[in-house]
Amino acid sequence: MSKNLPDRHIDGILKQLSTPWIIALERAYRVKKMNLENGFILDLACGSGIQLAAYSSQLNMPCIGIELDAERAAVSENTLNEILNFDINSQSKIITGNCLHKEKINIDKNILFSLIHLDPARPTNIQSHTISEMEPNPIEALDIWKNNLIKNKGGVILDLSPRLSKEQCIELMEELKRILPDFKQTWEWSSQGRGRVDRLSVWLGSVAGENTKSRYVRNHPKDIEKSIVIESEKLPWEKENVPLKNTTVEVGEILSIVDPALISSGLENSWEAIKNSEGRWIRKEGRRPLFIHSNKITDNEEINSLISESGVIRSIIEHDINEGVEQLIEIGKKLELKTLTLRLKISPELQPILQSKLDRNLIDIGGLGFVIKLPNNKLAICTKI
Ligand SMILES: C[S@@+](CC[C@H](N)C(=O)[O-])C[C@H]1O[C@@H](n2cnc3c(N)ncnc32)[C@H](O)[C@@H]1O
Repeated sequence: MSKNLPDRHIDGILKQLSTPWIIALERAYRVKKMNLENGFILDLACGSGIQLAAYSSQLNMPCIGIELDAERAAVSENTLNEILNFDINSQSKIITGNCLHKEKINIDKNILFSLIHLDPARPTNIQSHTISEMEPNPIEALDIWKNNLIKNKGGVILDLSPRLSKEQCIELMEELKRILPDFKQTWEWSSQGRGRVDRLSVWLGSVAGENTKSRYVRNHPKDIEKSIVIESEKLPWEKENVPLKNTTVEVGEILSIVDPALISSGLENSWEAIKNSEGRWIRKEGRRPLFIHSNKITDNEEINSLISESGVIRSIIEHDINEGVEQLIEIGKKLELKTLTLRLKISPELQPILQSKLDRNLIDIGGLGFVIKLPNNKLAICTKI
């Protein structure tokens, strides 16, 4: 991480728990565009204070952070000093305490909040996360503090584990409806582009979209204004699970490997680029979801970042990769390819051996290609477009 970033004073476990600065800033930037009513920002479990400071600086509104752990509260104070301007910082404060014991938290009763944020702690050593493991319990905490929001104008952002199951999400959605019945909800899945969902959050009230129940955000690694946002009027669990039809492919068709995080959010068919291109999904699960189409999906470089590879299918063969790459070398030479990247599951020991054999035996000057396993277990040899 660059020494110039404002979270450089955060380290150890807190660094792992805290929202990366660029992600915190990107969210705050989107909240800014929602023109919230002027008030304070409240983070009920502020940790390092990074998210709180990002909102406060972007929205130019003072903030209050509550944190159970005194050391972390001290880090949060440093964060506010580091990021906020003098005027906003002098109205803001960090309180060490338990947000579930509101009576012990000293906040001026005239203060009203434009936005309440909560990113509850979750056990780090467990594969699956459940709602009951979150600290503080988000339903309890939001129920206690909801009346401190500006009436009918406030917003809430609740961070969740991306590992929550569909059933747990539905349970939480219902619980949130119970305590905040007049608040619309937008569920957001976001990814930094490593093929997985990095964050799941629920945006409620003034920060929820008018007709947006779900949203996928692909964060740009450097530029907060360049994130890709895909929205839908439906939640993934409200959509009918239609089995894939026609999963066979033919030579000449175009095959694209699409970001699996987009599929996890259930928003793949809301993506304009897919909506506008006649095509079909032949695989949605796993690390390499496959979309088949006849024309290039898009020339837009940013949108293309949701596609890890696109190519024209030039050959389809029945072949077990564990038996070697001789057949692939032969085809690669015929197609005048200088590279043929193996995009299929191979044991970690065998993968570099096979790949380097391919690299050594293809021609020096030629096209670029890749190999992918199709749902029927055949291999498709494609030339990149
Ligand atoms: C996931 S971290 C928050 C990270 C924060 N969003 C950031 O960017 O640094 C959750 C925090 O909640 C705090 N916490 C847990 N229970 C709490 C409670 N009842 N009241 C206040 N803070 C609490 C933990 O000490 C922890 O620092």
